[in-house]
Amino acid sequence: MGTDHRHDVGLSKASTFSAVPGFVGLARRFAVDVAQSNGWRDDFTLGLVVSELATNAVEANAVLFTVIVFDPYEDESCRYLLVEVVDDCKTLPAKKQSMPLVVTGRVPPERGRGLPLVSTLSEEWHPEERDVGKAICVTLKEELHAPARGGNGCPSARFKPSVA
Ligand SMILES: Nc1ncnc2c1ncn2[C@@H]1O[C@H](COP(=O)(O)OP(=O)(O)OP(=O)(O)O)[C@@H](O)[C@H]1O
Ligand SMILES: [Mg+2]
Repeated sequence: MGTDHRHDVGLSKASTFSAVPGFVGLARRFAVDVAQSNGWRDDFTLGLVVSELATNAVEANAVLFTVIVFDPYEDESCRYLLVEVVDDCKTLPAKKQSMPLVVTGRVPPERGRGLPLVSTLSEEWHPEERDVGKAICVTLKEELHAPARGGNGCPSARFKPSVA
């Protein structure tokens, strides 16, 4: 896929949070609640992605961040969900992200896994300039008839092998 669908889908709900660690969990729950109430099933992936992006906003010293959840849309076999995390820090992360290399005999890098994880779990993601700062826009995909995640549910996202 990789297409920009923003103009085809309705904004479902947005909520703004103080960019401090305590609000990351609230932001995750907000996104999951909104998406699930619109029929989205893969709360695990959505929660993980929103947690990573909200944490990045906090670590970028933003003052506020906003989570925007759009209405899911479908094709014949899959359902898609666009979610954006907007913050008021002007710096954009690099679009190309890869897992930090683990080198034998060296202490593995502690940082740099969040966006590669988002990239692996999503259908598409990109940073985008906004008036206030920037948005990280992520499109998630799940099979229409996949079981809900959690417990014994099968993951619907495709895990690509990584070195870390
Ligand atoms: N919202 C953001 N605002 C500004 N820079 C960002 C933002 N998100 C990511 N970045 C930049 O991209 C880098 C990579 O982000 P990523 O989430 O992959 O790793 P990390 O946050 O450094 O570490 P980890 O997520 O593994 O704890 C960050 O170190 C930061 O420089
Ligand atoms: Mg991070």
